[in-house]
Amino acid sequence: MIGTAKQGLEVSITGLGAKVPDRVVTNDELKQYVDTSDEWIQERTGIRERRIADKSQALSDLALPASRDALAQAGLEGKDIDLLIVATVTPDMSFPSTAAIMADELGAADAAAYDLSAGCTGFMYALAQGYGMLASGLAKRALIVGGDVLSRILDWGDRSTLVLFGDGAGAVTLEVVPDEGFLGFELGADGKGGRNLWLPGSGSRLFDEPDKYVKMNGPEVFKFATRILVQSAEDLMEKCGVSIDEVDVYVPHQANRRIIDHATRKLGVPSDRVVINVDRYGNTSSGSIPLALAEAATDGRLEPGKLVLMTGMGAGLTWGSSLIRWTANGTP
Ligand code: ACO
Repeated sequence: MIGTAKQGLEVSITGLGAKVPDRVVTNDELKQYVDTSDEWIQERTGIRERRIADKSQALSDLALPASRDALAQAGLEGKDIDLLIVATVTPDMSFPSTAAIMADELGAADAAAYDLSAGCTGFMYALAQGYGMLASGLAKRALIVGGDVLSRILDWGDRSTLVLFGDGAGAVTLEVVPDEGFLGFELGADGKGGRNLWLPGSGSRLFDEPDKYVKMNGPEVFKFATRILVQSAEDLMEKCGVSIDEVDVYVPHQANRRIIDHATRKLGVPSDRVVINVDRYGNTSSGSIPLALAEAATDGRLEPGKLVLMTGMGAGLTWGSSLIRWTANGTP
């Protein structure tokens, strides 16, 4: 699916917030669980450390403070929100949705609230849905959350996945704005590659030996990621009539430093325009892009008027890109 934004009803991000757990887990600390080394992890992934949620913390415990910060930055309260989407593969529980739990906590009594599952691409899918609902006039103000506590569904004895992931969440508010906001979206899915990154035994399909842990074919996901980050971004830029030179800030999914470097090189983005936090947070799945946006805002790179290109990819296999003229003012 690809399309440019509707003229006349401009929608943009007006507030941004992010939250990671306090506990830092270094590569060296992972050596107590699996046969690995700081050197291997840094060389293959660029990850130095990640944040891991406390046993008492569920997704909503990270997503709520992130959401409160996003609402505050936009000058909104929970009651102003009429759409709340939480993109995640690790909700507090299957049901009620984390979105419904959060709507109650935030006082968003009039909001339609639901969770959305599109792997690490979830935040991009949720942004597109929020955009569509606002641009059609169905909703007026949306809160879009992306976050995961992936540490809960990792096999802490599997070195091929354990070293890659971390926990975190981010949130944005979407509102109708007077000037250009979103320029367009490109989203896709390829179920044929689904079993390259999957969680057997987590739903109604019965398996002989369900273990409810993430399983991944790393090299296949690597090939997919390097191809799709470039293709999705290029297709969207062409559709929107934007060249890479016009992009001020590039926010790729933070899966692996080598994947990001490959995409950056192929797209021709100058390195000072690329946002990278995978070294400190690892791959935070649906939290990855909003956390990176918050980082760019905090370091002063994300000011109103900047053109931002975001691309996510993940389980499904899925992918999604968006171009937006930034509107939110200030730091989260
Ligand atoms: N520590 C030490 N050695 C390891 C580790 C580890 N943590 N993991 C694997 N190895 C070993 C392997 O066993 C293998 O050893 P062998 O040669 O003796 O068999 C060797 O390292 C090489 O393994 P490969 O899997 O071929 O290593 P590769 O260079 O492909 O790197 C990696 C693996 C980092 C997982 C890479 O394939 C990758 O980044 N893939 C993409 C993963 C990803 O991005 N997933 C999530 C995307 S979607 C989402 O975000 C949910």
